[in-house]
Amino acid sequence: MGIGSKMKLDLGLLFILFSFAFFSSLVSSDLILSKVDRRIDLTSHIVRITSTLKVENDGNDEVSELVITFPDQQAKHLALVSAYHNEGRGKTKSRGASLPVKPFQSVEMPQSLTSYSVSLPKKLSKGEGLNLEVLAVFAQILKPFPEQVSQGDFQLVVFQDSAYILSPYAVKVQTLSVKLPDARIESYTKLENSKAQGSEIKYGPYENKSPFSYSPIVVHYEYNKPYTVAQKLVREIEISHWGNVQITEHYNLVHGGAILKGEFSRLDYQMSPHTKGASAFGWLVAKLPPRTHSIYYRDEIGNISTSNLWGNSIKTELAIEPRFPLFGGWKTFFTFGYGLPLMEYLFEAEGKRFVNISFGSPIDELVVNELIVKVVLPEGSTDLSVSVPFEVEQWQETKVSHLDISGRPVIVLRKVNAVPEHNQNFQVYYKFNCLSLLREPLMLILGFFSLFVACIAYSHADFSISKSSTSYLAKLQWDEVQTTIQQLENIINRCLTIHDKLEASLRELSRTGNVQACKTARKTSDSLLKEFSKELKPLLISLQSSPQGAQIFPKAEELVTKERELQERLISKHSIVVDSYEKKLSGRDTENRVAPHQQKITALRKEVDDLLEYLDEI
Ligand SMILES: *[C@@H]1O[C@H](CO)[C@@H](O)[C@H](O)[C@H]1NC(C)=O
Ligand SMILES: *[C@@H]1O[C@H](CO)[C@@H](O)[C@H](O)[C@H]1NC(C)=O
Repeated sequence: MGIGSKMKLDLGLLFILFSFAFFSSLVSSDLILSKVDRRIDLTSHIVRITSTLKVENDGNDEVSELVITFPDQQAKHLALVSAYHNEGRGKTKSRGASLPVKPFQSVEMPQSLTSYSVSLPKKLSKGEGLNLEVLAVFAQILKPFPEQVSQGDFQLVVFQDSAYILSPYAVKVQTLSVKLPDARIESYTKLENSKAQGSEIKYGPYENKSPFSYSPIVVHYEYNKPYTVAQKLVREIEISHWGNVQITEHYNLVHGGAILKGEFSRLDYQMSPHTKGASAFGWLVAKLPPRTHSIYYRDEIGNISTSNLWGNSIKTELAIEPRFPLFGGWKTFFTFGYGLPLMEYLFEAEGKRFVNISFGSPIDELVVNELIVKVVLPEGSTDLSVSVPFEVEQWQETKVSHLDISGRPVIVLRKVNAVPEHNQNFQVYYKFNCLSLLREPLMLILGFFSLFVACIAYSHADFSISKSSTSYLAKLQWDEVQTTIQQLENIINRCLTIHDKLEASLRELSRTGNVQACKTARKTSDSLLKEFSKELKPLLISLQSSPQGAQIFPKAEELVTKERELQERLISKHSIVVDSYEKKLSGRDTENRVAPHQQKITALRKEVDDLLEYLDEI
């Protein structure tokens, strides 16, 4: 990148520096920060800044709150800020009790700052001090630079901050360390007392800085981990008193990093995902509770079975693999669902029941722009109330499904800018009359009883169709046609499975380079496909000869023809790819050779699916 663009990067910050120069003392300037250590964690796209502060009261009045500030530019990405009282000493100290943090406004504060006040655990009188830890979590604060990359490029991002803590208090001694994902640093602002060591940049110690001291720093580095942002996530948590908690999550996911420019070659990506897709991500990991069951995962097209599941008694992990890798700016939509044992999430206290379950998404390091959590309670629940450990919007809805009379009450919670730190447990309390629980079974019993009575009535009435009547014959023939169609569909579906295996063998080839295995897969497929085509013939003939089947015959025949065509195209594609591989052609050349077939394959597959669907509805 040129010098010019680097200059542009730095300029954005300078105005902030100047605008604070005029505010030197204010708020309760009785406080001073005698020692500050800040750690900026840039190993994820969710940026976490942890500051340990040693606060002292240097004045005469008692002080009960501490003000922390962020430049507006950062504050608009702030997803969470929390403060803790650290009581221990030295290296052994652990994070202590959480302290209340509220937005803070004062005319004395500079305009371009956003401030919060932390309530101290006790009033500090003259000369007293205590240790605090402040955690600030930022979402989508890393700016891709350059903003666009092509498929083979690595992704570079920029992070801006100040080498000194931006504080309304004077600071005696302070240090800053910036942790990066790895040592590939494009550039960083060099100041007095600054150095880069491997994947870490250190600033300081700096001494005796006055309030609002600010010294902009810019770090420009390589970031090739998933930049996963859900523009919207709807989580539905459905409680059934029959022993299950069903969770369904609808994701609208986007790669939030540098936009892909130029063409995308899938083949290049498949041949070497690390160099031809460094900035993309091909899969995500969801960490689910240990006894999760009935997991499914689907997108707009249908079920996806390529996701992997593994687990032990502590957790279940699911690797979700979208149909295509996601590059910057690309989106995908998918749903996944799972069941949890009710007894681990539903409790009783003081005459009420309550659900105690995690709020956020189980997907690793995901930012959610808009998170909607719906808790669907059993029908007949009353006196609902909610307890969430952070601020959310909330309202109530009703969901009506089968067997419901009045519908199930639904608590809806909405949170913008959710990060993994929001994956805390929350509780929904409600009252429930056990008789309501019997309503559904009673309805079912009543339903079966009526059916039973109807059956008795039916068996005593004489609707008998004479076995020789034309309508009876027609029915028999129709049954036969349906059976034939079903057999035909089964065979076609088995052929489609073989097609998928052929495609999979190509992917395997690009991964392992094992041409022999690929050829073996082809041989197996060829012989199976031949078998199937033999089985299809008699079915078609039987359809054609049946008076009732004749009307469906053209569609069935079309299906068989299209599948055959699809087969031929796939086999051509297979041969071309294997051939190109043996001749060591480049990814692009191979793709050019495959492209006309690929187009036809996609179109044919759609036609086959449509025909299958049509026949399904017969
Ligand atoms: C998808 O998978 C789920 C669970 O395995 C199954 O219940 C459902 O019928 C499947 N849907 C389709 C369209 O195959
Ligand atoms: C909810 O569950 C968490 C984790 O299992 C537990 O620590 C917490 O005490 C529970 N909350 C309530 C109100 O029972």
